[in-house]
Amino acid sequence: MQKVLVTGASGFIGSTLVDKLLQLGYEVFAGIRSTSSKKYLQDTRIRFIDLNYTSVEEMSKLFKEENFNTIFHLAARTKAKRKEDFERVNYKYVKNLADALEGLDTKLIFLSSFAAHGPGEETSFAPVKIEDKNTPDTEYGKMKLKAEEYLNSNFNGKYIILRPTGVYGARETDYFVYFQTINNHIEPYLGFIPQRLTFVHVDDLVDVCILSMNSNLSGKTYFVSDGNLYLDKEFANITKKALNTWTIRLKLPLFIVGWIASLNEIIGAVLGKSFTLNKDKFNILKARNWNCDIENLRVDLGYVPKIDLKQGVEKTIAWYKQENWL
Ligand SMILES: NC(=O)c1ccc[n+]([C@@H]2O[C@H](COP(=O)([O-])OP(=O)(O)OC[C@H]3O[C@@H](n4cnc5c(N)ncnc54)[C@H](OP(=O)(O)O)[C@@H]3O)[C@@H](O)[C@H]2O)c1
Repeated sequence: MQKVLVTGASGFIGSTLVDKLLQLGYEVFAGIRSTSSKKYLQDTRIRFIDLNYTSVEEMSKLFKEENFNTIFHLAARTKAKRKEDFERVNYKYVKNLADALEGLDTKLIFLSSFAAHGPGEETSFAPVKIEDKNTPDTEYGKMKLKAEEYLNSNFNGKYIILRPTGVYGARETDYFVYFQTINNHIEPYLGFIPQRLTFVHVDDLVDVCILSMNSNLSGKTYFVSDGNLYLDKEFANITKKALNTWTIRLKLPLFIVGWIASLNEIIGAVLGKSFTLNKDKFNILKARNWNCDIENLRVDLGYVPKIDLKQGVEKTIAWYKQENWL
């Protein structure tokens, strides 16, 4: 039986990946912290590991003992109060984990992000390609890119880097805020130029993780989306239909959203917490072109997206309703 480790297993994508790997018959180790929630990790077949990401030596010893076939590295800060937290968790921990894998046959699947590239240009609105120059404009994205660059230049083992665009699905809590807003009859638009958006349903992303594990390829980087481009208005219409509701359109100038994000940063610093709308998130929201090209993912890994936005949003909203989130 193949032995796999999923770090960040308590999170939205990690817990969904764990479920799928168990379903496929893998021996699954979940990398979590002592403080992590096990709400979605109730299956008794799961083995738990609390990795010490600060010690290459400790991780190296553990990896030698366990001899995992694959490690999916998902643990990351997606929001942080301080810039240093992004650097520590999203770069240094990846570097240490890669160093600890040196000389082993374990394949590493690293969940980076579209943010490592940054948004596409806003003249021709061409989709971003993997060979394009990276220009991340968030601390989160910069540290994801630094981790990618470390793997590409220093890691001698087998690895694949995945750069998902916006991931949504059951258990997700950020897009959920948008669904809630529409459910409350407000249809928000940030800025006056239409936003070009891409999405991937978590089930499709999990399939890509498994395709990456099973592929003989190494040293490759792929954007991951459902292959379609959506305007912000289409996203709103799909959501409204799935919720069977009416809305009032609210168009907010970007500078107002920027102010709220800055204010949230100040309040967050005082209260010691990070808000969903912060400065990094504002840079993501203000960009108009989140289109990416996934042709190499289709060709190299045989990826066929199964869930488009309409199906995915319906499925996700059905889950939120079933769980009484909506
Ligand atoms: N969701 C998206 O739209 C999206 C898009 C592109 C890329 N990604 C990438 O996909 C991966 C998973 O994202 P997600 O949406 O599932 O995020 P999530 O729900 O926030 O989960 C993050 C996971 O990382 C763990 N983690 C955070 N800080 C840690 C630390 N200091 N030490 C150890 N573990 C830590 C969390 O553990 P606790 O539960 O203990 O906090 C949690 O298990 C991340 O690498 C993210 O950058 C996500």
